[in-house]
Amino acid sequence: MAKIKSKWVCQVCEYETASYLGKCPECESWSSFKEELIQAKSSLKNSNMIDNYDSYFAPRLLKDVNVDTEVYFSTCYSEFDRVLGKGIVENSLILLGGDPGIGKSTILLQVCGQLSSQGIKTLYVSAEESPKQIKLRAERIGISSENLFVFAQTNLNFIIDEARKLEPKVIIIDSIQAIYDPELSSAPGSISQIRECSNRLLNLAKYGSASIFLIGHVTKEGAIAGPKVLEHIVDTVLYLEGDAYKSYRILRTVKNRYGSTNEIGVFNMIDKGLVEVCNPSELFLSQRSEANAPGSVVISTMEGTRALLVEVQALVGPTSYAAPRRVATGLEYNRLQQILAVLEKRVGLSLSKYDVYASIVGGLTINEPSADLGTALSVVSSVRNIIIDKNTVVVGEIGLTGEVRAISGVEARVNEAVKQGFKKILIPEANLTDDLKNKNIEIVGVNRLIEAISKSILIPQEAK
Ligand code: TYD
Ligand code: MG
Repeated sequence: MAKIKSKWVCQVCEYETASYLGKCPECESWSSFKEELIQAKSSLKNSNMIDNYDSYFAPRLLKDVNVDTEVYFSTCYSEFDRVLGKGIVENSLILLGGDPGIGKSTILLQVCGQLSSQGIKTLYVSAEESPKQIKLRAERIGISSENLFVFAQTNLNFIIDEARKLEPKVIIIDSIQAIYDPELSSAPGSISQIRECSNRLLNLAKYGSASIFLIGHVTKEGAIAGPKVLEHIVDTVLYLEGDAYKSYRILRTVKNRYGSTNEIGVFNMIDKGLVEVCNPSELFLSQRSEANAPGSVVISTMEGTRALLVEVQALVGPTSYAAPRRVATGLEYNRLQQILAVLEKRVGLSLSKYDVYASIVGGLTINEPSADLGTALSVVSSVRNIIIDKNTVVVGEIGLTGEVRAISGVEARVNEAVKQGFKKILIPEANLTDDLKNKNIEIVGVNRLIEAISKSILIPQEAK
């Protein structure tokens, strides 16, 4: 009997060896090798490329390619459409990743439900749950439709056969790690299975009638599990993020062939599924105390094309350690250190005997330098126990000489501040242009950090 040959494949970088290794010499991951059987060449000829050969493959002049028909269709959720560009692009392959239990299955089942109730045929393939479980969830979120098909199956051949027979416009694969191609001997979820399955599904999407959503599990580090090529194969990569202790969820694009990246959509998880939050600034500012409080400043951050208002808080108090503590939550730690250094040197604020805690309220993470000025003012406000007017928004990047540098997207930020009813906005002087005239808000340009402090203080408060 012929000996069955196997190889060991690193599940992180696809490095191959003949025997087990504890540490991958290529990507230096530990315990990442799995045994896979070596396939005979003939059984690897799948990928459906050859049997699908038709006129789509023939070279055509670009000017003859027909784009008369509408290629986008709406998911019926404006927050979801915004993240995708204008909506779902026909024949596209979209990957949705996220932590377990964050709501990936729920959001896509809701999209299927909405599309189906508009007469669009959809197929939800569940490799992890039974049709009964899906029905229970659908009842909970109030979906009942004539056009929504569910299929509990893990074998990719059956999935593709049924999809060809049904010809749905949208297919959901929940999840790509749980389905398998029977012609490969490795286990579902292994790197070769994921690559092969996603390639065959790519074919189904491009040369069939459907757009396909793949749900992907994430690794401990937060990346989508599977080969790196998976993110290259698909047209769009989305992540559904959120805090396990908070009910809102953020849908984020990290790759999009048909729209801009870094767009976000905000949803709220309630007992009837996910509902859209069309005014996220209101959500992030909803728990702000009515009274003016020292250490609190409202800043504006850009997420794609949209400006969001969030609160930054600082707490500065005498330290009981030899080296004072600096804690940044939702802000970049090194950026906070730099702001504190500038405050010491350029404003003369001595912080070496104080602990500094700075945090973005609501669980958002901000990497933008435009949060610098607001962060600095919140620190000043806390250490001096003075108040920055709660009706003021502050934006600007701080340079090492204490200058306030220009930022992008100022008009969108000003408009959002007006929309949310703020009275005043501090922006870098260099950003003051004619476009900002006639806005229903007081716009104050600042050149230096020290100037920003004097222009935003409301009332000195008695030290408590
Ligand atoms: P699910 O979509 O199964 O997550 P994923 O597919 O990403 O693993 O979502 C499960 C979580 O969502 C679960 O913790 C309960 C919560 N949930 C609600 O709060 N309300 C609802 O209506 C539904 C359907 C789920
Ligand atoms: Mg799920």
